[in-house]
Amino acid sequence: MPLDLKALVRSIPDYPKAGILFRDITTLIEHPEGFREAVERLAETHRGAGITHVAGIEARGFIFGAGVAIALGVGFVPVRKSGKLPGETIGQNYALEYGVDTIEIHADVLGAGDNVLLIDDLIATGGTAVAAAGLLRRTGARVAHAGFVIDLFDLGGAEKLRAMDVAVEALIP
Ligand code: PRP
Ligand code: ADE
Repeated sequence: MPLDLKALVRSIPDYPKAGILFRDITTLIEHPEGFREAVERLAETHRGAGITHVAGIEARGFIFGAGVAIALGVGFVPVRKSGKLPGETIGQNYALEYGVDTIEIHADVLGAGDNVLLIDDLIATGGTAVAAAGLLRRTGARVAHAGFVIDLFDLGGAEKLRAMDVAVEALIP
């Protein structure tokens, strides 16, 4: 029987700001079966889709994205916060539920013919994922699939991604 992944995520009120109910996935990843099931379910949906790379968004997207890349037998592309990648980068500014930030990838990491699966722990407003999908597409790669552990449905982020022709899978809707 599948595990109740939602029960393994802890909610912390007023973090990092008053009014935000923070969904804390550390309690899920501390649980060996829960962590494994989350990764396997995200990978399973995308087997046979011709995925060539998994891109994970720093920092929590690295945790799940690395596992999904290993499960699918493809490489991992880190989408990092600004100033962290050593080579030539391309970047994109974005707004998220509680601030603003910039993400970057190496300029030469992907190209036409690549088919990228975007993975993060959570989609809220979609600011981060929309910026990441747009940034990845600037390389010429296809970005038609994204997977999240949690979709904060009321904030509309998944709909924004779907409007960019990205199919969205979330384990905890
Ligand atoms: C969180 C989360 C997503 C993003 C979702 O990351 O991991 O990447 O916010 O929000 P959005 O849909 O409103 O853009 P955060 O920037 O807090 O970074 P972290 O993973 O380093 O904690
Ligand atoms: N990222 C954006 N909104 C979030 C939330 N409510 N909980 C955890 N991570 C988030």
